[in-house]
Amino acid sequence: MNRIFIEAPAKINLGLQITGLRADGFHSLESIFATVTLADQIEILLNRNESGIALECSGIPSPAAEGNIVWKTAKLFMEETSAVGGLTISLHKNIPSPGGLGGGSSNAASVLLALQKLTNCNIDLFKLAERIGSDVPFFLLQERAAIVSGRGELLRSVSLPDFHCVLVHSEENIPTPMAFKLWDEFQGDLTEACPISNYTALKFGVWHEGKPFPVRLDNHFLTLLGSRFPALAQTAEELSLLTVNWGLSGSGPTFYTLFRSEEEAKEAEKHLAGKFPWVFRCQSR
Ligand code: C5P
Repeated sequence: MNRIFIEAPAKINLGLQITGLRADGFHSLESIFATVTLADQIEILLNRNESGIALECSGIPSPAAEGNIVWKTAKLFMEETSAVGGLTISLHKNIPSPGGLGGGSSNAASVLLALQKLTNCNIDLFKLAERIGSDVPFFLLQERAAIVSGRGELLRSVSLPDFHCVLVHSEENIPTPMAFKLWDEFQGDLTEACPISNYTALKFGVWHEGKPFPVRLDNHFLTLLGSRFPALAQTAEELSLLTVNWGLSGSGPTFYTLFRSEEEAKEAEKHLAGKFPWVFRCQSR
């Protein structure tokens, strides 16, 4: 085999709690990551007689060559394994970035999995994944959903009932490092005003009886960022008119609404389509 095609799915966070600051400067968190049918497409061609990495991007604009996580991941893999050959990679982006949907991390995990198959090199992909980004180990797992903790490396598969969802981009640009930095500066102000408690259910994967959603979809980042980014607060308000089952994914700026039936999701999509620049209906994988 010298050519491989792989789908890199997006995830949404069904609740997210930041639980502390670690000695390595990263934050520990608790969240349920659930993959959805929105995905990027990646094709990799390995030519054993060549060298170098060529990356061609289409779809939603993404960084070229060395600036792209796909390129960086491929380079890291080839260096660490001493695999021989040149790579021609095509990336078609459908997942907005930054979005809070794990697009880049999912791309990286897909590249690792694909390159391991193409080169037959035996290497601990989870070790490499942690070096690339905190969310990459989850996507390496290739599970539909998991309870994620630690920096993102502690993973426990969880079985979720199927859901339909509508994703909405709130038009803010919030890079993850900035969101965590704001958390460090202002979390103290939030503890009294907006306590987020009762994550026991989330942690142990306990669901509302008969309902396909976790007991809480609260996200510490929304509490933090909602007052600083007006479009986030407006989007949250708009979505709460539609359903109680909505949440912010990761550090945003993408929100999701959850529904049990495709019909309900289609109705919501129709309602939201004219109001936001990017609205995407999909479902659990
Ligand atoms: O690991 P990743 O590249 O996704 O992280 C981007 C930035 O977000 C890190 O440099 C760090 O500032 C912050 N981060 C964090 N704790 C995490 C994940 C990310 O502080 N668990």
